[in-house]
Amino acid sequence: MPTSTDASASTAERYRSFAEVEARGMSATYEAWAAGVATDAATLRLIDELPASKRQPNLVFSAARLLGAQPGPYPAFADWLAAHWSDVREVALTHATQTNEAARCALHLPALGAIDGPIALLEVGASAGLCLYPDRYSYRYTGHPRLDPADGPSTVELDCAFRGGTPAPVPERLPEIVWRAGIDLNPLDVRSPADVDWLDALVWPEHEDRRTRLRAAARIAARNPPHLVGGDLNEQVAALAASAPADATLVVLHTAVLMYLDEAGRERFARQMRDLPGHWLSCEGRSVFPGIRVRDDVENDSVDLVLALDGVQVAWAQPHGRALTWVANP
Ligand SMILES: C[S@@+](CC[C@H](N)C(=O)[O-])C[C@H]1O[C@@H](n2cnc3c(N)ncnc32)[C@H](O)[C@@H]1O
Repeated sequence: MPTSTDASASTAERYRSFAEVEARGMSATYEAWAAGVATDAATLRLIDELPASKRQPNLVFSAARLLGAQPGPYPAFADWLAAHWSDVREVALTHATQTNEAARCALHLPALGAIDGPIALLEVGASAGLCLYPDRYSYRYTGHPRLDPADGPSTVELDCAFRGGTPAPVPERLPEIVWRAGIDLNPLDVRSPADVDWLDALVWPEHEDRRTRLRAAARIAARNPPHLVGGDLNEQVAALAASAPADATLVVLHTAVLMYLDEAGRERFARQMRDLPGHWLSCEGRSVFPGIRVRDDVENDSVDLVLALDGVQVAWAQPHGRALTWVANP
């Protein structure tokens, strides 16, 4: 079955796949909407006005929700979409799907905590930069005492389960981050209500906890906004890394980003990481970096990301930050 982002598949196939593979069990609203679109010739004709790369269900549904479409049965949504199509089309043409999930900091923290600080944190594919604040959130790892920022509990509390494997090196205190910077093709600004509203619309309808976390994390980041550079990560990373303070340990970080690059782009990035001073913390799908040995000898879920420090896998990571399985060093 083609995926919903496969621009070579028909729009009906993409929406059917989204309903059956991505939305089922995750969002009853999106499952119903996507299944409805897949068999609705009139709505398919509207969506086919968009370039193939902009027909993704996630983009069209988020654009509709940004403009006020309410979760509910498909026929009401189809009527709403037809009535508001020119505005939805404009939003889809001018926006991209670029979720920003602060909960992923719970995946990074044990690895970051093992690095000597203070840390200069540089994230590629940073979106609005919410993963640049691991020191500003509170953490509850199963079997470990709660971890809070130095000045007390955060309004963003991250729960993360350990699913077996070897005990993870959860730090006793949060790392000291003295510099935060990021790169994105389209950086979003946590101080811009329009940008935060777009990130909110990208969160699926039933995921109220993610929406609350997003808003709280954006408020935290807005107090001390990160330095975000627009552009391609391979073009920008060396210069931005060179501007990090020399008396801090540089850590380059990324989650669910390198899959957007082709093989040559990923290889180029891995080479740049090997040549930079400091550390490389990568959290990507299992096939993204063939040079990183994947620990299939440790139980994992098929959708898990590979968390790797300096090219060596240290954990299997649930993509939205909910669970980790630490792996022993080889
Ligand atoms: C799925 S989002 C993940 C955002 C963030 N890392 C997180 O975990 O919440 C991927 C981000 O990577 C950015 N991106 C994709 N390709 C890129 C490239 N070649 N250079 C810079 N950013 C890129 C997208 O714009 C998007 O904001």
